[in-house]
Amino acid sequence: MKKLIERALKMRGLARAPYSNYSVGAAVITEAGIIIGGCNVENASYGLSICAERSTLFTAIAENHKKFKAMAVATENGGTPCGACRQVIWELCGDIPIITIDAEGKEQQFSSKELLPGAFGAEKLP
Ligand code: THU
Repeated sequence: MKKLIERALKMRGLARAPYSNYSVGAAVITEAGIIIGGCNVENASYGLSICAERSTLFTAIAENHKKFKAMAVATENGGTPCGACRQVIWELCGDIPIITIDAEGKEQQFSSKELLPGAFGAEKLP
């Protein structure tokens, strides 16, 4: 867990957030123990920006990882994943621990299930 959190903190330093000035770093650890990181990347056309959590998971999928054990998210103030990211985390990771860490090193742990109660999933599709 320490390495996962360290990676999320490092990724925060790579964020591109010139519009919001809210840098976010994230990291996931696979079942095999491989850690993949991501950060938010903003665009002048704001809606094209991507959150750290989704950039992390999309990178992991593109690198052929399929099973994830935990995610860490580093922000200034301990922010939790946004609604869109919660949906993506749920679908790609299932119920995993999500650890947030703020700039002062304060950690909090949640589960992806508690962050998205009553989740919509592929099983609801015809
Ligand atoms: N952001 C994330 O990267 N993750 C979240 O879960 C919340 C929001 C980013 C998006 C945008 O670049 C900035 O933080 C402000 O919303």
